[in-house]
Amino acid sequence: MRKVFLAFLLIWISRCGNVQNFTNKIESPSKNISLEFFLNKEGSPNYLVKHKGLVTIDTSKMGFDFKDQPSLQKNLKITGVKTKAFNQDWEMPWGEQRIVNNHYNELIINLEETNPPKRKLNIYFKIYDDGIGFRYEFPRQDNLKDVIIMDENTQFNLTGDHTCWWIPGDWDIYEHLYNTTKFSEIDAISKQKHANLAQTYIPENAVNTPITMRTDNGLHLSFHEANLTDYAGMTLKIDKENLSMTSELVGSHRLKYKVKRTIPFVTPWRTIQISELATDLIASNLIVNLNEPNQLEDVSWFEPKKYIGIWWEMHIGKSSWDMASGKHGATTENAKKYIDFAAKNNIGGVLIEGWNTGWEHWIGFEDREGVFDFVTPYPDYNLDEVIQYSKEKGVEIIMHNETSAAPRTYEQQLDTAFALMNHLGIHSVKTGYVGKIIPKGEFHHGQWMVNHYRKVIKTGAKYKVAINAHEPIKATGIRRTYPNVISREGLRGQEFNAWASDGGNPPEHLPIVAFTRMLSGPIDFTPGAFKIKLNETNQINTTLAHQLALYVVIYSPIQMACDLPENYVGNPAFQFIRDVGVNWEYTKVLNGEVGDFVTIARQERDSGNWFVGSISDEESREITINFDFLESGKKYETTIYKDGPDAHWDKNPTSIEIQNMIITNDMEKTFKLAKGGGLALSLKISK
Ligand code: NOJ
Ligand code: CA
Repeated sequence: MRKVFLAFLLIWISRCGNVQNFTNKIESPSKNISLEFFLNKEGSPNYLVKHKGLVTIDTSKMGFDFKDQPSLQKNLKITGVKTKAFNQDWEMPWGEQRIVNNHYNELIINLEETNPPKRKLNIYFKIYDDGIGFRYEFPRQDNLKDVIIMDENTQFNLTGDHTCWWIPGDWDIYEHLYNTTKFSEIDAISKQKHANLAQTYIPENAVNTPITMRTDNGLHLSFHEANLTDYAGMTLKIDKENLSMTSELVGSHRLKYKVKRTIPFVTPWRTIQISELATDLIASNLIVNLNEPNQLEDVSWFEPKKYIGIWWEMHIGKSSWDMASGKHGATTENAKKYIDFAAKNNIGGVLIEGWNTGWEHWIGFEDREGVFDFVTPYPDYNLDEVIQYSKEKGVEIIMHNETSAAPRTYEQQLDTAFALMNHLGIHSVKTGYVGKIIPKGEFHHGQWMVNHYRKVIKTGAKYKVAINAHEPIKATGIRRTYPNVISREGLRGQEFNAWASDGGNPPEHLPIVAFTRMLSGPIDFTPGAFKIKLNETNQINTTLAHQLALYVVIYSPIQMACDLPENYVGNPAFQFIRDVGVNWEYTKVLNGEVGDFVTIARQERDSGNWFVGSISDEESREITINFDFLESGKKYETTIYKDGPDAHWDKNPTSIEIQNMIITNDMEKTFKLAKGGGLALSLKISK
């Protein structure tokens, strides 16, 4: 009886919250993941995560350092604890699937300092079956009005020396090759020298997110953040000895802090995806689920589409962005050629880069302020004529705004630039931020730029224009709230294959990207290179079938066919690009291992047709596809695009075999992927 009474007393006290050293525990809906929160003897907040009863993230600290006031990290007491359960579906206007299930249990902890100034901090934990998210809230309070954050000290203590797929914690760019090492071997500093980057700043041994890991027990973890709003991007500082990571926010050398906010506010969510299968990392919707619902009412003005562009020809040096070079790519005549090709080939968009004045001074110039004009075309490009022609042909022009990392110049012209797009009936823009940010001392991933990128998104929404940012801030699921965030770069894209002095992206690049960068959101990778060998140093390091497979493997509601029209004409493999969908009812990740291979099946919205893409790294392998995801009783007219028997990413990249057959849902088939190879299937419902 006494025991029972004590137990009740404890529960009661914990609800009222006056207990220190008492563990608050919460489990995911299926109970496979659990989280414990407690204050240690010093009154410091700590959390611990278990997967199936085994510690996955060991006791890890939380806290903040500020300017002009003491850290908020100890002498805290719990003043309240709440739990909530949530389970709701929501619909993506376009996406990897139509319906997303948002199912979690939430634990909310209210903290207050025991001594004056008795500052308050709340922590929200959401526990899903595929991972966790937590964030801090600085609630309205009497003794704290503003904060200047010098550091956020969120720890992630690992339980072993896991295998990691990582890029350095660059404050300026994510365009690095992924490294595969043990955690204790992470060396970001060694990546500081880079011949091909117009901007890079790696101040310490830190990594960028998402960083994906595999434990010795085969569990997969990926660390990232969700809803990065009015805050600095987070890198993770590596402590090799203690197998621990701590949040390291991107700072501003100009303003000399990391984040400045007025209270009340919430930080972005710190996220940990946890799954036994590598494929479940891709299937997870944790990042979008941790964002706010759609704030834009009608977004039907944007339609997912494939596009081509006056683009690759600049990257391979055939033409140029500026007019003075004498080989200007964006001429009226050339634009019409691309529009004709798009119209004939089921391609909805044409991107035209180098159409506006300013390109003579865009790179390598110290003062790029005021250089670009976002409404004035070069004299050999008749904007109105091109728009008129594209409308006659049923193709939409994609606007291009390269800011050359001078965001203040862009902001001055933002309304005018977007009003022009709206007036012309252009509903998407590719933006670019090549170079070191002006003003000096700001970085692409700091709070000041996070706010700039958001301003562009909001302005876009106002003028019905969707944004595809290059040299962007990382994707953190904002596309749920602002669906006009359609895609972004934020990785080493296809363009590196055209000119990188290190020989381009190796065959393992995309089999890593699918399990790292792609967990954060859509990628404008620009696949579809058909001419694989470019010159003595540069080539695409995959087979042609691998290039086709990328239309399914990599998700983006805009998908480029990057190559020159003349390299597509007459090639039967191009039929796959004509046919492949860009907007999905449902996605199924069939198999895969990080950095080795991955196979994804996606069902197209409306048509119900399925497409499958599979890619391999530098190894050749066999993969078996069970077609049980197809609707039973239906026949699918299938075209198979597979590596030829002698295909090889380097020795024979364009060797491809195309076959037709009927596939039904009771079938299973084994396919061979070449070294650096791939497989693409289009499965159309037989009428
Ligand atoms: C870098 C982008 O990634 C690339 O796609 C674009 O062509 C150039 N900037 C010029 O804006
Ligand atoms: Ca780029």
